[in-house]
Amino acid sequence: MSLTVYRKAHFNAAHRLYNKDWDDSRNQAVFGKCSNPNYHGHNYELEVGVTGTIHPETGFLINLDELKKIIKEEVEDQFDHKNLNLEVPEFRTLNPTVENIAVVIWNKLRAKLDTSYDLTIKLYETPRNFVIYTGE
Ligand code: NI
Repeated sequence: MSLTVYRKAHFNAAHRLYNKDWDDSRNQAVFGKCSNPNYHGHNYELEVGVTGTIHPETGFLINLDELKKIIKEEVEDQFDHKNLNLEVPEFRTLNPTVENIAVVIWNKLRAKLDTSYDLTIKLYETPRNFVIYTGE
């Protein structure tokens, strides 16, 4: 029997989407408002799903206090109120699209979780735009 436990989290962050090999007009054409050279912010909503089995001694799949702490340290403390392009090393050379942010978060959390768990990241950049990444 396998279940998935979810923990929600939130961070505000600024970004700019651009390709340094393109000129401003092409960046503007492809990335639109998200290519504003002066950056802009999003309210990111994160849902972290951990899939596994119930441990018979605790009744827990995972200790949610521990999951909360991992998400705080790996995501909220590093991304919240930051300029992703300038302040988060993973995005110095990686465009901080919602797709890439989801993959970076998955990699950071994957490294902190027991390998017996499967991990799903659902990341909303706006209430209507979101991605799901399961590591595949
Ligand atoms: Ni944007």
